[in-house]
Amino acid sequence: MKIKKAIYRFRNFVFLKNIKMVTLDTIISLAKRRGFVFQSSEIYGGLNGCWDFGPLGVELLRNLKEEWWKAMTYRDDIEGLDSSILMHPKVWEASGHVAQFTDPMIDNKVSKARYRADNLIEEYIERLKKKNKTELATEIEQKLSKATEPKDFYDIIVEYKILDPVSGTTEWTEVRNFNLMFKTFIGAVEDASSVVYLRPETAQGIYVNFKNVLDSSRQKIPFGIAQIGKAFRNEINTKNFLFRTREFEQMEMQYFVEPGTENHWFEYWMEERLKWYQSLGFKAESLRFKEHEKLAHYASRAVDIEFNFPFGWGEIEGIHSRTDFDLRNHQSYSGKKLEYFDSLTNKRYIPYVVETSGGVTRTTMALICNAYDEDEAPSEKGTLEKRTVLRFTPRIAPIKVAVFPLVNKDGMPELARKIHQDVQKHFKSMYDDSGAIGRRYRRQDEIGTPFCITVDGQTLQDETVTIRDRDSMLQERINISQIVPYLKEKLSL
Ligand code: GAP
Repeated sequence: MKIKKAIYRFRNFVFLKNIKMVTLDTIISLAKRRGFVFQSSEIYGGLNGCWDFGPLGVELLRNLKEEWWKAMTYRDDIEGLDSSILMHPKVWEASGHVAQFTDPMIDNKVSKARYRADNLIEEYIERLKKKNKTELATEIEQKLSKATEPKDFYDIIVEYKILDPVSGTTEWTEVRNFNLMFKTFIGAVEDASSVVYLRPETAQGIYVNFKNVLDSSRQKIPFGIAQIGKAFRNEINTKNFLFRTREFEQMEMQYFVEPGTENHWFEYWMEERLKWYQSLGFKAESLRFKEHEKLAHYASRAVDIEFNFPFGWGEIEGIHSRTDFDLRNHQSYSGKKLEYFDSLTNKRYIPYVVETSGGVTRTTMALICNAYDEDEAPSEKGTLEKRTVLRFTPRIAPIKVAVFPLVNKDGMPELARKIHQDVQKHFKSMYDDSGAIGRRYRRQDEIGTPFCITVDGQTLQDETVTIRDRDSMLQERINISQIVPYLKEKLSL
């Protein structure tokens, strides 16, 4: 048991800056302790696959969305949208989700544990690779890449005698397809005619509004429509904290292009989106592209942007070439024309779409993992002590500045509080007067606050404060009147 635990822990390590390692458990515990993320309905034992964002988490989440919104819609060729979560049920027939948005599911008869069959096989392949059984791993990998029907997955599990990790048996049920959409009813009557779905992607709200946006904004192709919003998937297995949840948020943009130009725009958006993640402070070596071999029912090409999480590489955004699949199907199901007329060339066509589809929830977790670091800082006793620090890019940090009085007397608290209130008109600020100053720095470092201001004896004489940088831990003295311009400059970087 102890050995198993150790192996599990080892697998969940990631190397940071070549020497530092962080486990997912460390991230989860910091996130809870400091108010980034709580389990949903925790006092009732929690609800699987659902999480709540606490005071710091919600700031981080909003900063991320704000950055995306500015990058994607503060440009002439992209319009914003906020469509409803509940949509006409025909939308999901036309989009192919009713028939095809499924995962293969298998149960173990002994342990009653339920798995996504493809994940069960993937994890088996990973175990083989770790044991250097690469030939066998490749053989199964090839079979898995061709598997599409439930029976294909079942045959692999039976042929290679894949064991249930819980019961250690091969007592499997058949593999069945499980539709991931949550169903509910609209209105008072709960029958087949009142079924509606919680949207599993925000993209369809964009497609059904294509004509509305085109006509009201007078955009010309190529142009895009962007939106941020909640999506819901009844995942068979949720896992890895915020990575696979049942309720999450997406930030999606559909870029409508002339057929034949989609490859050019696909490459363009791959580059743009990678640059954007780097601008948020993601280290280049922690990001990579992964080309899809297996494609979703709507895609002709798909590339993921992956981040190196503590548990390994995982997708944070998908870039998909969706051809005219969605618009053509909505045109056919609704009977409404969804064509574009190019007045320069006199051509009429259904546009092709390049989609960028990012996860707000997943990226928030990636931001915390990316920012996590440990180093040493001077303690009160003058020795060095371990410090946990979240090195968020200042723009993203939940709290931008903390203000402290050095001691709770001589008018310092009153002045510090006034500075805090003035700064808070511009940036999220926190006031803290409890404990030794070193403790206060540590508390702010741990939540990633980039700047700490201290009001001390000298402030009372010459109206200057110290401003300390989270990363270098160096302090500068500036005039109180310079605080806001100073922070504005630093935070615009
Ligand atoms: N419209 C296309 C689409 O939804 P996707 O690859 O299924 O594509 C896009 O999802 C992004 O949404 C993913 O890269 C991920 O960040 C996020 N996402 C998808 N499923 C998720 C889940 N169960 N939990 C958290 N985030 C999820």
